[in-house]
Amino acid sequence: MAGFYFVGTIIVIKQQLLNRIADKSAVIGIVGLGYVGLPLMLRFAEVGYKVLGFDIDQSKVDALTAGKSYIEHISADSIATALERGFEATTDFSRAPEADTLILCVPTPLNKYREPDLSFVLDTMDSLVPYLREGHLVSLESTTYPGTTDEELLPRMQSRGLNVGTDAFLVFSPEREDPGNPNFTTRTIPKVCGGYSPACQEIGVALYSAVIDKVVPVSSTRAAEMTKLLENIHRAVNIGLVNEMKIVADKMGIDIHEVIRAAATKPFGFVPYYPGPGLGGHCIPIDPFYLTWKAREYGVNTRFIELAGEVNSNMPDWVVAKVAAALNTRKKAINGSRVLVLGIAYKKNVDDMRESPSVFLMEKLRDLGAEVSYSDPHVPVFPKMREHHFELSSVTLDAATIASYDCVLLATDHDKFDYAALKEHAQLIVDSRGKYLEPADHIVKA
Ligand SMILES: NC(=O)c1ccc[n+]([C@@H]2O[C@H](COP(=O)([O-])OP(=O)(O)OC[C@H]3O[C@@H](n4cnc5c(N)ncnc54)[C@H](O)[C@@H]3O)[C@@H](O)[C@H]2O)c1
Repeated sequence: MAGFYFVGTIIVIKQQLLNRIADKSAVIGIVGLGYVGLPLMLRFAEVGYKVLGFDIDQSKVDALTAGKSYIEHISADSIATALERGFEATTDFSRAPEADTLILCVPTPLNKYREPDLSFVLDTMDSLVPYLREGHLVSLESTTYPGTTDEELLPRMQSRGLNVGTDAFLVFSPEREDPGNPNFTTRTIPKVCGGYSPACQEIGVALYSAVIDKVVPVSSTRAAEMTKLLENIHRAVNIGLVNEMKIVADKMGIDIHEVIRAAATKPFGFVPYYPGPGLGGHCIPIDPFYLTWKAREYGVNTRFIELAGEVNSNMPDWVVAKVAAALNTRKKAINGSRVLVLGIAYKKNVDDMRESPSVFLMEKLRDLGAEVSYSDPHVPVFPKMREHHFELSSVTLDAATIASYDCVLLATDHDKFDYAALKEHAQLIVDSRGKYLEPADHIVKA
């Protein structure tokens, strides 16, 4: 009889949550309102769910509550519309029981030893534990090594006395946001979801299917965690490969960009990747090392990852050497030259500067004695960063300003730059993005 009652209770809790998701009465809690959490909030609000957003950063909560956005590609109008639909932002974690789901979208950086820093995930979970209740679904979206969800989140939920898989639920569902990419939205990017148990998976899939066109279930949280790492390692390794190919091609007097364009005409078996001044962003330079660290526990060395990391992190030095050589042909040294770095966001058409190779370029040039300025239409003032410091504002580009620099270094090829004007007025351009197709005496590819 007791067994029957127990099974019945499980079914009731699960079914109640499924019903609430289906009839949109579920309250969606999102923890961490950054590049990942904010678009997700907008999508749930758009579909008609009440969203309760949690963040520890009071300034973000205040901005959102006032209908303002702090991310360039997310409009204030969209925040205002979400507020009208019931969205609330708060720093008060004691409101967690009001939510049916707690979707964690907090940072997963590396520490100074380039090892996983799970402190944001663990701090978030520790703040939530006192408020976890029966019927909660916890979903981790932060990129991390396989095992994090089961090894770190599960015991914390259990410490609250919850029977995970029966009276509360746990999934890992990686985020695939590509900021600034106009071809995809949160709704149209398929979403992978793995649960701690089949019941967890069923609820996770139901939740995401309510807002995303295609949800891809996998058999476990570990498979979902590994899927995200495979995707990003695939990019890091291939970018490392093409960066190495660029160096070889350059030595041989071949334009790597011409070669990539030609190779990309092959209709099968080739995927184009593009070289650059290094690897940037919060994901690709960092995530692979989450696997490297975890693989050591199993006695495995991740040699591809290490090699790609080495090649990619050496690229700024290679580009600076190109600047030095280009100035040298004009009888100038880096020391004392005025160098304008174009584009300091980590990729084109975004304002995100995390791990941007441009910052490494600026530091290396400054250390060598250059007088460094920058221009970036997406970053009007050089932001406060933990490890990098420049008291600079973006230079407005006009003919006289462009001509006043000994060297213009194209680091990030934003669409907003006037490439024809730059070509016309610059004394010397070092192009690390292959933007200038036609050779010219004052353009050097790097
Ligand atoms: N940015 C991307 O394009 C992208 C894409 C895919 C995956 N990811 C992954 O998603 C995760 C989040 O990345 P992001 O770019 O959104 O980071 P972000 O820094 O833009 O946002 C994280 C937010 O979490 C908040 N936060 C930090 N600690 C907290 C805590 N203890 N409780 C509540 N909130 C807290 C921060 O104040 C911030 O607003 C990372 O694991 C990242 O690797 C990011």
